[in-house]
Amino acid sequence: MAQQLTDGHGRRFEYLRLSLTDVCNFRCSYCLPDGYRKQAGLPASLTVRETGRLIAAFARLGLWKVRLTGGEPSLRPELLDIARTVAATPGIRKLAMTTNGYRLASRAADYAAAGITALNVSVDSLDPARFAAITGHDRLDEVLDGIAAARLAGIASIKLNSVLMRGVNDDELEGFIAFVQRHDLSLRFIEVMRTNDNPDFFAQHHLAGAEIAARLESLGWRPLPREAGAGPAVDYARPGEPGRIGIIAPYSKDFCASCNRLRVSARGKLHLCLFGDHGIDLRPLLASDDQIELLTARIAALTATKAPAHRLHAGDSGATPHLASIGG
Ligand code: GTP
Ligand code: 5AD
Ligand code: SF4
Repeated sequence: MAQQLTDGHGRRFEYLRLSLTDVCNFRCSYCLPDGYRKQAGLPASLTVRETGRLIAAFARLGLWKVRLTGGEPSLRPELLDIARTVAATPGIRKLAMTTNGYRLASRAADYAAAGITALNVSVDSLDPARFAAITGHDRLDEVLDGIAAARLAGIASIKLNSVLMRGVNDDELEGFIAFVQRHDLSLRFIEVMRTNDNPDFFAQHHLAGAEIAARLESLGWRPLPREAGAGPAVDYARPGEPGRIGIIAPYSKDFCASCNRLRVSARGKLHLCLFGDHGIDLRPLLASDDQIELLTARIAALTATKAPAHRLHAGDSGATPHLASIGG
């Protein structure tokens, strides 16, 4: 039996979220309202070779799904090289990416050719002016064209992400549903999470996942049975109709009990949770191929110590300034 990545709370980790850069060109009001600020003196992002070694070690531990995140991963010049390297790693069966849709229309075919088979795209409003107000960019049409191009390019799984916020875009819930049904798409409503950079925004606009669920259920949407190994989204369908809606409700009870993922930052730090830790530097073990045994053992030992849950309920976002730094 191959080695596995497990922790002391009965969870198994087969999914890595790999941030390629913490730079983002958008400035979403709940994430980077003042835009990305470059910090001086930080080391460069992992090279393609370092990334290849990292993924090989995870794959030895039974991990088979990698999601490329950012910041905005499409800003990373080596994105396609990295994607090809990850997709070609023995044991990796699924390569996904989460993007704000920047230049997606012109690049979707390249992503597909590089081995990316699943894309999650952020669309926080279907109204162009509001999309611009939320993200700081008047690019809704471009993002929607990108989604259409990704479908044409044969990317099999495409999901839209909408952070639903009270007084910002919660009046669009039915508009999002109509869009999803018209295009037979999958969309997830995300409950906004408190980070160290957004406490005032959070206090004003947080909309509980339970409230989103109640609104969906009142419109005839029903939760689908959870599949084994499913991530944190709870999926809904309206029986016999096209489209899927998911809810990602990090403040809901037992949200962390089904956690199936680990994270590595652009500079090679392992984050066992989105919140709460500063990350553990794996980079010294990525310098040469002959350290793979050590690297594998270190990842397994660290994963075993993963905390049972985040402490967001206690108002504690840990060391997380915003989700762009470790890719959400
Ligand atoms: P798949 O399950 O592969 O579709 O990925 P995903 O839905 O987890 O990925 P995506 O990058 O689209 O993330 C959607 C939202 O879920 C973002 O707001 C993430 O920050 C959030 N999210 C993903 N994983 C976690 C997690 O472990 N904890 C918390 N609190 N939020 C998460
Ligand atoms: N709360 C919830 N979701 C967030 N995202 C970024 N910051 C937050 C936050 N504070 C979402 C983005 C994107 C995904 C990767 O993370 O909207 O869809
Ligand atoms: Fe928006 Fe994502 Fe960029 Fe944050 S990292 S500003 S959520 S596009």
